[in-house]
Amino acid sequence: MISEKITQKFKEKYPDYELPLGILFKNDDKALYKYGEGVVLEIGTYQGLATVILSLKAKEVYTVDAFFQTGPLYRNGGYTYEIIKEKLSHYNNINLIKGKSDDVVIDKKFDTIFIDGGHEYNQVKKDYDKFSKQLNKNGYLLFHDCFKEYQGILQLCDEIIINNEMRFIEKIGVINIFKNENNSIT
Ligand SMILES: C[S@@+](CC[C@H](N)C(=O)[O-])C[C@H]1O[C@@H](n2cnc3c(N)ncnc32)[C@H](O)[C@@H]1O
Repeated sequence: MISEKITQKFKEKYPDYELPLGILFKNDDKALYKYGEGVVLEIGTYQGLATVILSLKAKEVYTVDAFFQTGPLYRNGGYTYEIIKEKLSHYNNINLIKGKSDDVVIDKKFDTIFIDGGHEYNQVKKDYDKFSKQLNKNGYLLFHDCFKEYQGILQLCDEIIINNEMRFIEKIGVINIFKNENNSIT
């Protein structure tokens, strides 16, 4: 569900293209637009909707997907690496990386990281532990799908707060936003 405002921003910049398909809830687009600044990492590209919204203001976006999921949702619209690569090639600041988040190496520091890959506690925790080391001081970490169906994500968010690892800033849509003010992470 994409707001008029973000659709308008997209159309102004890319009048010849349509927004890709994706899995976003009400107001998630506003969070992605607000925090999509500088060099951005997304874990979990799917068909590229969040990727493209993140790219509207960002300098560069790196987006990672293993392209290994099956099921009706993942066949909708042709979800393969080749198709998504071609679609995202229209945007000159988006870099699509095929691979499992556990395996990929991206030699960059990030201003914003959006975690939306595997949704089980173990995977989200691994993604957080690995990539938060590459988050700049005062950068933002965003977790998608912070609602009761995904207890593992909620648990990890609680741990980050309890352990004082990052400061919880706000929740927009179903995205929890943290700020990395703590030197010990980097
Ligand atoms: C919920 S979808 C992402 C939705 C997307 N961000 C959007 O805007 O619509 C999750 C994606 O993460 C990918 N994925 C899941 N686990 C992964 C992992 N460990 N490494 C890389 N990609 C993964 C899946 O293939 C799937 O495309």
